[in-house]
Amino acid sequence: VPEPVKTNGVTNERGKIITEVEDDEDNLSPDDLSELLAEGTKKSHDRAENCQFVKDFLRGRIQRELFKRGTVALYFVYTAMEEEIERNRDHPQFAPIYFPTELHRREALARDLEYFYGEDWENQVTCSPGTQPYVDRIHEVGREDPVLLVAHSYTRYMGDLSGGQILKKVAQRALKLPSSGEGLHFYQFEGIHSTKAFKQLYRSRMNELEMDQETKERIIAESNLAFKFNMGVFTELEEAGKSIKEEVLDAGFPGHGHGDMDG
Ligand code: HEM
Repeated sequence: VPEPVKTNGVTNERGKIITEVEDDEDNLSPDDLSELLAEGTKKSHDRAENCQFVKDFLRGRIQRELFKRGTVALYFVYTAMEEEIERNRDHPQFAPIYFPTELHRREALARDLEYFYGEDWENQVTCSPGTQPYVDRIHEVGREDPVLLVAHSYTRYMGDLSGGQILKKVAQRALKLPSSGEGLHFYQFEGIHSTKAFKQLYRSRMNELEMDQETKERIIAESNLAFKFNMGVFTELEEAGKSIKEEVLDAGFPGHGHGDMDG
């Protein structure tokens, strides 16, 4: 009996697109890393979805300046993450979830920044204080404890493949970005035809990683830490938004907020 074709919605070795879905949802066990991660980060996910910046964003209340700064933050996060992923591409506890063509976002983010800031974008962007600890942690993990890179990859890429499409539509509408996708390349995974199928493949690959229970627990803790770092970025953006709003108000309504305007 021929083996059933394992298909995953990405291209196989011969470059042929395979589209059927690997049905592993029924074969999951509670000890599987994918299940432990989903369960073990549920509270963090709730908190992230419910923080003010994210709620405002989902309602389409997003200032262009904040969206730009958010894109800058993501650029530094993914630059760090993908540098460490490259360093560890052959590490046995990472290699099975190494999907550069499908997942990598640095190039897409660079294109988005060029759209927002112009050709000279690299001289105009810096890593913000709210983003730096996240970036530092990714490098630390990549150099000293690479198995924890699984947590960082999971937290960002699985999130991007899940909520990302909603965020793309919201941003496009709210900021009136062109339908060509400029400024939104980050949200567009050109190498993935079915996000559902790809997420299933990713989960099954995570579950094939060779590791003991303690390591699984450390990965869950690291994923919760990654959620915290993301919240740190959101909080910083939310705070920045307050002073930007004030500037806009001041510009729009002369005299507002100032007691002693002469003239
Ligand atoms: C999963 C939406 C924020 C990380 C999901 C899923 C949805 C979703 C609908 C479920 C997908 C599925 O069952 O296959 C949202 C929305 C957000 C948001 C609307 C608010 C804008 C975030 C943030 C992060 C994140 C801030 C972390 C940076 C994840 C991860 C998963 C996920 C890791 C995969 C869970 C799993 O199946 O193991 N998200 N999300 N999400 N999200 Fe979010």
